[in-house]
Amino acid sequence: MWQFQLTFLFFLFLILYHYLFGYKNGFPTNWPLLGMLPALLKNVHRIHEAVIDILELENLTFLFKGPWFTNMDILATANLANVHHIMSKNFANYPKGNKLKDILDVLGDGIFNTDFMVWEYHRKMAKSFLTHPNFNQFLVNKTWEKVDNGLIPLLDHASNYAKEMDLQDLFARFTFDTICTIIIDHDPMSLSSNLPRVPSSKALDDIEEVFFYRHVVPTSIWKFQRWLNIGGEKKYKKACQILDSFIYKCINIKKEQLGNENLSKQKEDDKVSIDLLTLYAQKNENYNDKFIRDTILNMFIAGRDTTSTTLSWFFYLFLKNPKIASKIKEEVDSVTLNRNNFKEVSLKLVYLHGALCETLRLYPPVVFQAKSPIKPDILPSGHHVNPNMQIIFDMYAMGRMKSIWGDDCNEFKPERWITEKGRIKHEPSYKFLAFNAGPRTCLGKDMAFTQMKIVAATIIQNYVIEAVEGHHVVPNLSIILHMKFGFKVRIYRS
Ligand code: HEM
Repeated sequence: MWQFQLTFLFFLFLILYHYLFGYKNGFPTNWPLLGMLPALLKNVHRIHEAVIDILELENLTFLFKGPWFTNMDILATANLANVHHIMSKNFANYPKGNKLKDILDVLGDGIFNTDFMVWEYHRKMAKSFLTHPNFNQFLVNKTWEKVDNGLIPLLDHASNYAKEMDLQDLFARFTFDTICTIIIDHDPMSLSSNLPRVPSSKALDDIEEVFFYRHVVPTSIWKFQRWLNIGGEKKYKKACQILDSFIYKCINIKKEQLGNENLSKQKEDDKVSIDLLTLYAQKNENYNDKFIRDTILNMFIAGRDTTSTTLSWFFYLFLKNPKIASKIKEEVDSVTLNRNNFKEVSLKLVYLHGALCETLRLYPPVVFQAKSPIKPDILPSGHHVNPNMQIIFDMYAMGRMKSIWGDDCNEFKPERWITEKGRIKHEPSYKFLAFNAGPRTCLGKDMAFTQMKIVAATIIQNYVIEAVEGHHVVPNLSIILHMKFGFKVRIYRS
């Protein structure tokens, strides 16, 4: 009981501070004992805007002092030389670190949560899968199947009855079904006509929100809440159980299938249809189920929300910018969406590609990247970092900083990504960090562009979308940049 009272008093204290003493001259006040935590809690609802303001004032690098004895000092930087140094040039000194591993504990020993040899192993496996010569056509086939049998029937139904629908929810269902099919050879059919509740998909949303919360409060506080099993931690525990039971069930089904020799042989001969789970199962290494479960869960996180939130924000920007929308439509209408050779079609959709990059600059789905040095180091900006410190890049802030993208940084301008010769303009990954940079660059970038172009082009060619008036679209507080209240639209056949 006394622990509960103590926590309550502590929070009361923080709230008082957060109303009375947030900022001094534009900078968070560094209080004895509490450090800058009150200012962080006060601004947590506008965390990215606050980071932009402070970084612009502080010449792009700022040291956030956490409460004493909490090991919560964080260096936020948007200095491009620092980003390049940490992500690529001195990569070996900047693993993700144990603090992050603790925060993302449900990811176990998967690719997102490991460093050094285990990460290298995962990366090799994931790369061999996602860059296999047959993978692109496999992906294109599975994506079109979902478009034809899931997306179009649902959009037609909504169009016939002039029904309001949440586009973000629709895209999340779309990518969840496709990523499950590609990774574990199982379609949860969340994009069916009755829009069923899919517990494992909801569980992923819940754990992502808790990941964010764990980043902004001291470790001892969230661990204490976990111990008490209250609030977000209680939800998190339940979500982990739901995911575990879903994934282990799929692993067992796959094991049974692969026990059947004919099936396994047929899959080997027909590499186009191999999912990641089968690929692992066919390797003659003794993976335990926990390792496979970690691998699968990490791939779900990688491939589900990133693509679906980008599509949601893309359509949001599309509707907000009618002149650009008509240019995108003109380009999309000029191509035939050939299912057997989508690679060729994709290359022609240059303006759409630019618009998707611009969406990713303004609304990067993965909003933070955290690193922790193994050895003390001096960054190109002159800042000293040590092993107790976390270094954070806020990708949302970085996409909207005048010093990085110019005075028009808040405008949606696909032209920014197109050269005079009409080709896609390359921006260095340490500047356009949406897909990460250096040896840990996203492995699913091509997959994401292929899926997003198929979905966006299909909708733009065949439907007219209207945003529901009065519906408020704002980002939520999560490590993935979802829309807090979804994206309500009406859709009509064109
Ligand atoms: C618009 C879509 C996408 C965006 C913006 C995106 C962004 C990112 C980012 C920022 C990271 C680094 C995360 C971190 O280390 O904390 C990452 C890593 C990764 N992504 Fe993506 N991603 C997208 C789609 C996908 C898809 C569809 C897949 C396929 C399953 C995928 C697979 C991966 C993998 C395997 C990694 C781990 C790389 C490593 O640590 O070596 N991504 N992605």
